[in-house]
Order: sequence, then C-alpha cells, then structure tokens
Amino acid sequence: MHILHVVGARPNFMKAAPVLVSLAGKPGVRQTLLHTGQHYDAAMSDVFFQQLGMPAPDLNLEVGSGSHARQTAEIMTRFETVALERKPDLVLVYGDVNSTMAAALVCSKLGVRVGHVEAGLRSRDRTMPEEINRLVTDQLADLLFTPSSDADENLFREGVDASKIHRVGNVMIDTLVRLLPCAKAHRAGDVPNRYVLVTLHRPANVDDLPWLGELLLALSALSQEITVVFPVHPRTRQRIADLGLSALSNGHLRLMDPMPYLNFLALQQQAQLVITDSGGIQEETTFLDVPCLTMRENTERPVTVTLGTNQLVGRDIARMQSEARRVLAGESKRAQPIPLWDGKAAERIADVIARQ
Ligand code: UD1
Repeated sequence: MHILHVVGARPNFMKAAPVLVSLAGKPGVRQTLLHTGQHYDAAMSDVFFQQLGMPAPDLNLEVGSGSHARQTAEIMTRFETVALERKPDLVLVYGDVNSTMAAALVCSKLGVRVGHVEAGLRSRDRTMPEEINRLVTDQLADLLFTPSSDADENLFREGVDASKIHRVGNVMIDTLVRLLPCAKAHRAGDVPNRYVLVTLHRPANVDDLPWLGELLLALSALSQEITVVFPVHPRTRQRIADLGLSALSNGHLRLMDPMPYLNFLALQQQAQLVITDSGGIQEETTFLDVPCLTMRENTERPVTVTLGTNQLVGRDIARMQSEARRVLAGESKRAQPIPLWDGKAAERIADVIARQ
C-alpha cells in the first residue's frame, strides 16, 4: 500500500512524525512525505524535522504565504499533479491547517482515499479559518482518527458514518511522550526559574492591532511581577512592528524568535503558567499538568478544560490578569489523565490502516 502524508505547517510535523514511524513497521507499506511549503522559514519548519527525527520531505510544493484562497488554490493545483503522478492508495492529512483541507479536497475529487488525523474537533466558531478546514476535511475523509470522545460525538451529530470513525487518541502526545526525556537538555540557560510562557498567533488576537496593543501592555505589566518569555510567530512579530511596540522587549518581557520543538517543550514543562491562543499548547500543558490560560472565547479541545489545566479567559484582559494572579499564588487546578493520550495513538492508526 502506498501512503502519502501531507504536512505544511508547524503543528503538522509533530503529528505526522509518530505515524510515519508506526507505518514503517507494517509489511507492504510504502510511504511518501509531502511538504506543501505553507511554512517555509527554517525556524518554522526545518528545525522541527531535525529535532523530531523526521526524514526530509520527498516532495516540497513550495507554495509559501498568501491569502487563504490563494494559498489553498495553489496547494490544490500543485498537489493534484503530484497525486496523479504518484497514485497513492491513501493520503493522510493532519490537523486543521489550509494544507489539510486543500489536500483532502483534491483527493476527494480524484477518488483517492483520505485519512484525517485529529478529526472531529469543533470550536463551533466559523470565524476561525481552522474550523472551516475541520468541517470540510471531515466531510470528505474516508478514515477519521479522533483524539477524544467529544470529537466522535461531533462527527455523529454531523452525520458521519460510525464505521469511518476510529478513536485512537492524541498523536501530538505521542511525540511529547517520546521526546520529553530529551527536552531538559534544551532548556534555555538564561531564563530564570520562575516565568510565564506566552504564545499568540491567531488572527483574532494579532490582526486586531488595538487589541494586540492592549494585550502586549498587559503582558508588559505582568512582567514587572514575573519574567514573561514570549517566542513570537512571524505574523505576530510583523504586527508588533506595525504597532511600533517591538521596543517593549526587555529583560522582563522577552520577545524571542520562534523556538524549536524541544526548546519550547522544556520551557512549557517548567513554566509557572502558560498563556496562549494555540490549540496544541492547550493539549500539551494539560498532559504536562502546567496551568494554561487560553486567550480565546471557545476551544475545539474542551477536554483540556473539563479534565485538564486549561481555562478559557476569552478577550478579557482583567480576567487574564486575575486568573494569572491566582495561578501564581498557587491556586491552580490539576490535570486528570485523558483516555488514550498515552503515547500509542500512532500505533493504533497504523493498525487500523493495516486492516483496510
Ligand atoms: C497556520 C495555521 C494555524 C496554525 C499555525 C501554526 C491555517 C489557516 N492556519 O497559521 O492553524 O495554528 O499555522 O503556526 O492554516 N510566515 C512566515 N514564515 C513562515 C510561515 C508564515 O513569515 O514560515 C508568515 C507570513 O507572513 C504569513 C503569515 O506568517 O503570511 C501567516 O502564515 P500562514 O501559514 O498563512 O498561517 P499561520 O498564521 O502560520
């Protein structure tokens, strides 16, 4: 069986890595790894391949940045040629980025089977580009690999046939479990023992410049009490420059370049608190039992709130500040284990595929 994996953006890489390894152990499986080039900076892509021990992609579509329509169309056009030439039996797509949906659409029109890893997550917020990508991809996929029971329920509600749904657990946690022992060696030497770790990159937070300005000033105020370490995504860096606020960075509020996987994992594990709008970081902090405040009104990962350490603080700076103070005073909720987030999700995916 020829399996073609499509990855494109930073959060895809740690999801695909364990699936590639598990499928390599199955007899008769041949694999091709395709990178769409949605993320192209070395710090957003190459360093992840190195640290995750992934093979270099067999193919790179080099689509780069653009509007959603342009980027999606470019991926579709270039991927169609590859799919016709390479004739995969199954295409695996990951998560909820534009590359995921674009590849699923191409496959469904060509009659190529698609498996979606991390299926069924829903924020119910259609202003998020990722929610559109999730909805479309799950309607088209033939195999839906879900991380949690809420995802199964979402898919049932949308009429997806139960025979297509396979609850396998969380592949991002597979990578975390494998690499956590290596992370300690990658801890940044100049970061103090107590610090808050921040990431922000969602359009709702960073493309609204007055709001981003307020957030940065609040983080700057927090940094008077505890060091704030903020690895900055390229789009966020551009917006901070547009606001003329790059100079806010100092020894207390540290605006840094995006970090490689292991370095960021080490920082997460030892943080007093993480403030984020990322999806994956909500899951990783829950697994690591580190308190997390999510600067969003909703989450497609509700299990991180019900069982984990995550709290939604929405677009409410006063709430973020008061919750941060509570956590720093030692009043945080503890995480409970989440079923099937055990480091073996990719093995379960490979078993399902081998039975096809
Ligand atoms: C994408 C995903 C988002 C995911 C995020 C992780 C979509 C719709 N969004 O958002 O779900 O959480 O990746 O990072 O697919 N840029 C660079 N270098 C790069 C990549 C991007 O400078 O290597 C800049 C460009 O200015 C680009 C902007 O970042 O326009 C946004 O990149 P894009 O891939 O469109 O979306 P992300 O915000 O990264």
